[in-house]
Amino acid sequence: KILILDFGSQYTQLIARRVRELNVYCEIHPYNNFPWPDETVKGVILSGSPFSVRDKEAPIPDLGQIKGKLPLLGVCYGAQFMAHHYGGKVEASETREYGRANLKFIDQTNELFFEIEKDSQVWMSHGDTIIRLPENYRVIASTADVEVAGYKIEGEPTYGIQFHPEVYHTEQGLQLLYNFVIDICGCKRSWTPASFVEETVASLKQQIGNDKVVLGLSGGVDSSVAAMLLHRAIGEQLTCLFVDNGLLRKGEYEKVLDSYKHMGLNVVGIDARERFLGELKGVSDPEQKRKTIGRVFIEVFDGEAQKIKGVKWLAQGTIYPDVIESMSVNGPSATIKSHHNVGGLPERMNLKVVEPLKLLFKDEVRKVGQELNISPTILGRHPFPGPGLAIRIIGEVTAEKVALLQEVDNIFIEGLRKHDLYDKVWQAGAILLPIQSVGVMGDERTYENVVALRAVTSTDGMTADWVHLPFEFLGRISSEIINRVKGVNRVVYDISSKPPATIEWE
Ligand code: XMP
Repeated sequence: KILILDFGSQYTQLIARRVRELNVYCEIHPYNNFPWPDETVKGVILSGSPFSVRDKEAPIPDLGQIKGKLPLLGVCYGAQFMAHHYGGKVEASETREYGRANLKFIDQTNELFFEIEKDSQVWMSHGDTIIRLPENYRVIASTADVEVAGYKIEGEPTYGIQFHPEVYHTEQGLQLLYNFVIDICGCKRSWTPASFVEETVASLKQQIGNDKVVLGLSGGVDSSVAAMLLHRAIGEQLTCLFVDNGLLRKGEYEKVLDSYKHMGLNVVGIDARERFLGELKGVSDPEQKRKTIGRVFIEVFDGEAQKIKGVKWLAQGTIYPDVIESMSVNGPSATIKSHHNVGGLPERMNLKVVEPLKLLFKDEVRKVGQELNISPTILGRHPFPGPGLAIRIIGEVTAEKVALLQEVDNIFIEGLRKHDLYDKVWQAGAILLPIQSVGVMGDERTYENVVALRAVTSTDGMTADWVHLPFEFLGRISSEIINRVKGVNRVVYDISSKPPATIEWE
């Protein structure tokens, strides 16, 4: 495997994803807290950083067990660190070097640049630049403005590059990573969905033995894939709980429960609609709604899990970005909204936790799901927030408002499917606004609700763009909603991007 030491760059996860794309397993660890490399580690990559090596508090890793002993590649800050720390000179560049550049010189004999073409485009993003290299360092690539775009240390497999091979704008970035990971480090390309399933099933069997496991299904991709992996490993020892909080999409509870049963899972459906709606009475603050729903979920789940005699494990669909975030150099990012709905579950339940997906990125979870023959309708489903329609009803949540919004949402989502737009959109939904507006229907004046439609594209939900849905489609959906859903006389479309807006309205 490859070890990636993180100095807090926004691109660190991208390096890991690229290495994984090469079918090589890798792990990200903080620069100041990583396991000493054992014989499974074939090479190390140092990430970029928001810091400058000249800062007083600049991160300094201990490379004693690594440099000169294992293949080592420094990217951006990583490259500057190894130049600065071992006797070279790094200074602020006169113009901040940002964006595209072309490699005007490449040492064609150097293995890191094998098959990389002269003039190939690379992506720079740094305020500092290396102006003098330590003695035994040799320049192996340059651009017009950056002489030391790449270097190698003589006599050891240590390399530095000041551009970012992991971003899409570096045309031959993947080739460069291939050269490092496969040719220089000698990694085998054996990390595939099939090998992951095989190894994980074997290790789950061993870890769990004859114990019983409980898992909460949400209808989403992660929990479904986690459930199927465990099912393959331990079969009937796994009990899945699927809670109906009354805030799901129209007909979703029945549909999803049914498909879980078809997948052979031992699943218990829990109708807790009244309990949730009762606790939400009088609550209109968004954070309060999230907290209430999170708490009630834990109580309901715990109550039901107690009924499973001798259960020892709680399984969760945690994925790698959550794990990295919680141990990252920067610490978990600031709470804009408290998304992690059921964070308190393991503590309360006093069970051991098993997280079979905690090494995977989202796209890998989908591939593993395919490998497990999970249906495309589950794997391709849009994300849906844990607190459900409650955070799409601005103000207090009531059963009537939920029913109304379910109808609106259903017309919109089914419309997307019918017009072949569902898979082009990352997430979509409807929001019930707390205002009424005047309309006219037949000869009558109406004074009814306004709903907003929202559809976005995104890769991870961190940033998002509104989707330019065809006007004809929006027009058709709008009339269908107004004609069919009693109580709605106006439909608007949300054209805000994130940032500065967020995807959900609450
Ligand atoms: P925002 O509104 O923050 O949403 O742009 C980003 C993504 O997160 C989802 N989301 C949630 N998911 N619990 C969840 O499980 C929550 O409380 C929550 N709030 C937002 C949202 O649907 C979008 O996919």
